[in-house]
Amino acid sequence: MIDIKALTLKLLCSCILLVLMVNLGLCQTPLLQNVYNHDITSLDGKWQTIIDPYENGFYNYRYEPFEYQSDPGNGAFFTNAKAKSKTDLVEYDFDKSETLDVPGDWNTQKDQLFYYEGSLWYKKSFDYDLKKADNKLFIYFEASNYQTDVYFNGKKLGRHIGGFTPFNYELTDLLKPTDNFIIVKVDNKRKKEGVPTLNTDWWNYGGLTRNVKLVEVPKTYIADYSIQLDPENDQNIKCTISINGELPAAFPVTVEIPELRIKETLTPNVNGQVTTTMKANQLSYWSVESPKLYTVNISTAEETVTDQIGFRTIETKGSDILLNGKSIFLKGISIHEENPIRGGRAHSKADASQLLQWAKELGCNYVRLAHYPHNEHMVRLADEMGMLVWEENPVYWTIDWENPDTYANAENQLTEVINRDKNRASVIIWSMANETPRSDARNIFLNKLAAHTRNLDPSRLISAALEQKDYNGQKEVRTIDDAFADVVDILSFNQYIGWYDGLVDKTSRISWVITQDKPVIISEFGAGAKYGYHADQDTRWTEEYQAHLYAETLNMIGKIDQLRGVSPWILVDFRSPRRVLPEIQDGWNRKGLISEKGEKKQAFYTLRDWYSQR
Ligand code: GCU
Repeated sequence: MIDIKALTLKLLCSCILLVLMVNLGLCQTPLLQNVYNHDITSLDGKWQTIIDPYENGFYNYRYEPFEYQSDPGNGAFFTNAKAKSKTDLVEYDFDKSETLDVPGDWNTQKDQLFYYEGSLWYKKSFDYDLKKADNKLFIYFEASNYQTDVYFNGKKLGRHIGGFTPFNYELTDLLKPTDNFIIVKVDNKRKKEGVPTLNTDWWNYGGLTRNVKLVEVPKTYIADYSIQLDPENDQNIKCTISINGELPAAFPVTVEIPELRIKETLTPNVNGQVTTTMKANQLSYWSVESPKLYTVNISTAEETVTDQIGFRTIETKGSDILLNGKSIFLKGISIHEENPIRGGRAHSKADASQLLQWAKELGCNYVRLAHYPHNEHMVRLADEMGMLVWEENPVYWTIDWENPDTYANAENQLTEVINRDKNRASVIIWSMANETPRSDARNIFLNKLAAHTRNLDPSRLISAALEQKDYNGQKEVRTIDDAFADVVDILSFNQYIGWYDGLVDKTSRISWVITQDKPVIISEFGAGAKYGYHADQDTRWTEEYQAHLYAETLNMIGKIDQLRGVSPWILVDFRSPRRVLPEIQDGWNRKGLISEKGEKKQAFYTLRDWYSQR
């Protein structure tokens, strides 16, 4: 006799569990590595959209999520409901709604969305025939800010939290040959428990800010790989490959680096893992002067995935940063992910090229990608150009340190960017945080992040913009005062003497005592200047003031013996709701060396000259 009541209860529980798992992102499929070189179909272009500030398409009038209802009815936007008869009640219609371009933040596409912080729905329909009946199909989002709920043909695939890292879901089992529809709810509301939290000094661009693509792979496919010099022995290349899907008994995987005359065929273990160490015969190291990239082919009977990978070592020794065993000074600049001339979030290869070309013109060999992971074009182009990179997790200012969900969110975002960029030679530093107020809870949070990072990627250096204070109570002697300094490989801190802290003449009176035997990077200094505003060098907001501060600051920091790098704040003026001084800021942070119209200020040349002499 079947106990219907018990069975129904069991079914209901498993439904709720599944929805919870999906909403906690537990159903997210492992990140596909290097999607550029898989079989992709772009979903970029016009998507239909519905602005939904009350989340009326997600909750019923009792504020219960439609997706928890066994029958969501015609109110849920993710079902793409249509009136089937003259009596049917449906109060939305994507097909008659306005569109937005994807990729692209919504703020700079429509005036009414400029300051919008809330939920907005996107819909895209497509037909799709798998090239082989038993292939698999994924949808890959390069980024979506901030909380993203993804539905395919009316079914919930998952929820991703974090505005700057990629994620993907499998579509195969729900795929139809025609009339497929993907519906995405993106919510960019800032939250106390978020990462970043409520207060930042940048524009909260919302939406599908980067490319969206379909990725077709064989039923047994190359899901992930790490191919890097062995941090323990730079004569060897360590190679780990993950094969996902049904694994037949014999499934040889070949990894080949033709220029190094390396070709090995290996058999995955029961978990689909392939690991090997290969002799790196006379390889040319990747470096700033000579950014050598090798073609790497990973192939199975079903597919070949190709990548361009550079091989180099990065380490610290006392106060030195050693690239391929040689001490290097990081001549850098901080960059926000914004295309100032078009406006809005940068997302394309052309945007990356513009920003990194400006950095190159400045004489940089290094960029600090603040304050969150930038799009993958930036790090791939940095690989090609020979530009070293600091990538940063958006653990910024007053994070909710004691909230375990906040920590899990921060750790997940860091994991996603490490997984995406682990094969990029240009990336040398993972930054855990920026300017975070000291406390026991904050130290525990950051120490856990650092330990997680070292476990995931022992080959790169760890840093963070640390806190500082007067040394032994001496007002004009500064030192780093931050417990996290004992954990990081590189001591970095932001300092604004001459802008927030006194005037420019104060720089001549300041000295620094750094007690730790580690390299030092000044991760920020700078001053605001409105391009074209000229007066004497003591007049704030003029180009002359900014250039004078640069010259005096460079003299001051030059006295720090352990100084091994600097990334002044910032390459280009950028939008910030915090910056509202009429006629000068007008919603822009003016610390750029270049204006939002691409005009170079005097300080650009001050810094370029200083770099040219190092
Ligand atoms: C801080 C912060 C930046 C901010 C800058 C400024 O150091 O790290 O995000 O934009 O100072 O005040 O301009």
